[in-house]
Amino acid sequence: MKTYSMMVVGMGKRGVHHATAFNANPRFKVAGICDIDQARLEAAAPKLGNPKIGTEAAALAKELKPDLFCFCTLPHLRLEFIKLGVQSGAKLIAFEKPVAMSSAEGLQIKQALEQGRVKAVVSHQHRYGEHYKAVKAVVASGALGKVHTVYGTATGWAAHMLSHLIDYTCWFNDYAEPEWAMAQAAGRGKLSDLHTSPDYIAGVVHFKNGVRGIYDCGAGAPDVPEVPYWWRKCRIGAQGSEGFAEVMTGGGWRAVTKSGGYQTGEGGMNYDYDMPPYVQQMADWLDDENKIHPCCFANAYKGFEIMSALYRSVAEGGQIPLPLTSGTDEIASLKEKMPAKKVILTLAESAKEYPDALKP
Ligand SMILES: NC(=O)c1ccc[n+]([C@@H]2O[C@H](COP(=O)([O-])OP(=O)(O)OC[C@H]3O[C@@H](n4cnc5c(N)ncnc54)[C@H](O)[C@@H]3O)[C@@H](O)[C@H]2O)c1
Repeated sequence: MKTYSMMVVGMGKRGVHHATAFNANPRFKVAGICDIDQARLEAAAPKLGNPKIGTEAAALAKELKPDLFCFCTLPHLRLEFIKLGVQSGAKLIAFEKPVAMSSAEGLQIKQALEQGRVKAVVSHQHRYGEHYKAVKAVVASGALGKVHTVYGTATGWAAHMLSHLIDYTCWFNDYAEPEWAMAQAAGRGKLSDLHTSPDYIAGVVHFKNGVRGIYDCGAGAPDVPEVPYWWRKCRIGAQGSEGFAEVMTGGGWRAVTKSGGYQTGEGGMNYDYDMPPYVQQMADWLDDENKIHPCCFANAYKGFEIMSALYRSVAEGGQIPLPLTSGTDEIASLKEKMPAKKVILTLAESAKEYPDALKP
């Protein structure tokens, strides 16, 4: 079986997770790693079989011509690395959520991938957790009867968490086409963070199969008291005519169904556990066109459009029809239009992440 050569740009937290998982998989050879920080490269290289190191992604990509180009940089760097991945001749580009910071950039990314005929995968890898898979299995078994609602909540702000919430609820809803989205938001604090979004956003999405999506993300979102770890206070689930099933990112799942009674199980989000199957399925897709990766760009882009539409609804008001027909800079509109009113926290402990909420 072919071994695919690959390189990773960005040796921060997520870049190291990715490179470690690729290096541990015999189907991949980590040929190069890149970061603008030389010390990070030198620290990472010995743990990755001593690949080529470089501080210039373009030069390294040109030299290595990898089969797979992976980048894990902060969200303001997306389009230029997509273009670089396409130019390098890679067959697959793996990158981090969120897909982009504006629908205008997202559209350009989509076009670049289509024109270059390059596969892409976006890292919504929580789904590999046993607790996520258990909930998906209950939903897919039909035990919920007719599914009418999917929902997701997180205490972390939208630039970090909303993309995850939307992707997993769309997965539970078999990636049905969305028809429109509507939202309201509060708090400008994170509009000046590199992970840029309102401090709090709550919204609804209507899917063409009749299912309603409900999203509640950030400083005003409800607590998930079952989970102590703040970043993993996420509840994602589905309700149907005969029951419900939900996963908590930081630990466990439960379901109540007419036929199965009360079911519950363990599982917690764990990068070490989630990354290996995520990476293996990239090899599977490179081997076989029909084995489309579950985190494929098409799925991620659907969620990205929903996220952009929720932001647009905050800025423009009303329901935003989907799919989007043009690109714009939603974050710039939010910066212009969101009022200076402070966000009201649900949890006192959230003040450490939303300090603006307590300023006089
Ligand atoms: N999927 C998940 O569960 C998950 C979890 C955390 C973060 N993320 C996402 O992963 C991305 C990266 O986050 P992180 O926590 O790893 O960030 P990080 O800050 O730890 O790492 C980013 C790295 O990119 C490097 N870099 C910046 N510009 C570069 C350039 N031009 N060329 C080469 N390297 C460059 C930086 O020096 C840094 O080492 C973000 O988009 C974040 O939202 C995803």
